[in-house]
Amino acid sequence: MNTFTENMECRREAPIGVFDSGIGGLTVAREIMRNLPSEKIVYFGDTARLPYGNKSKETIIRFSRQITRFLIRQDVKAIVIACNTASAFALETIKKEINIPVIGVIDAGAAVAASVTKNHRVGVIGTVGTISSGIHAEHLHRLDPEIEVIGKACPLFVPLAEEGWLDDPVTEAVAHRYLDSLKEKDIDTLILGCTHYPLLRNLIGRVMGSHVRLVNPAYETALELKQLLEDRNMLCSSADTEEFPYRFFVSDLAEEFKKFANSILPYNVEMTRKVDLELLFSTGQSTWC
Ligand code: DGL
Repeated sequence: MNTFTENMECRREAPIGVFDSGIGGLTVAREIMRNLPSEKIVYFGDTARLPYGNKSKETIIRFSRQITRFLIRQDVKAIVIACNTASAFALETIKKEINIPVIGVIDAGAAVAASVTKNHRVGVIGTVGTISSGIHAEHLHRLDPEIEVIGKACPLFVPLAEEGWLDDPVTEAVAHRYLDSLKEKDIDTLILGCTHYPLLRNLIGRVMGSHVRLVNPAYETALELKQLLEDRNMLCSSADTEEFPYRFFVSDLAEEFKKFANSILPYNVEMTRKVDLELLFSTGQSTWC
């Protein structure tokens, strides 16, 4: 057995690090909980600095580096960048800088969209940052150069989902404003390219019509993670026996985060801890567990 294999085996029981700009990545954590029930999770939501969707690439890379550093200190065995904007801007940089597996939420969604589209016309909705990065088109064209990709930024979906207006006339009116022009483009597949959008799935589906297949990258990413851990022999081997298999950290508003988490997760979140990343790294404190 070589050193690499030994390291991987002893890390099977370690948690998976998942991060997002805030609460949206819980839709990804939820799919990991459902599809990989033996895995432990350390989740970080950067609630002090959200939204990421309207920030520059340099800023998102800086934030993502800090969070990655924090998660590595929590001894995670792999990292899921559960934020589409951070995946679009920072995944490639982070991948080069650390030696544990890192995945984002773009690849898996793009792969499914490329495989299900029949007319080669795929829509993508996301934040201003994600859509302007053109990352989905890049991935989709690599898989199939014939695919036409039509992107649309839908920034108001984020606060509406956070407000809990998931099936509300106001959200429906906003959805028509954003999506009617996409409908005219004759797409048959639509990638929900923002963490919050799976929460609006029913409404978006209704507005787009049943002929448009919605791709939820949160679910697809959980499956990609499962495959990755299986391939590397890193799947957690024991059934969950820990009292707190899921740990939650945020950079602000811990109580509000906990409330939202409890409204969407199949798990009772009892505690969320607040971490000041700038302070943590400036004082050199080594652990927050
Ligand atoms: N998590 C972000 C994303 O998926 C949406 C919220 C934000 O803008 O921070 O792009």
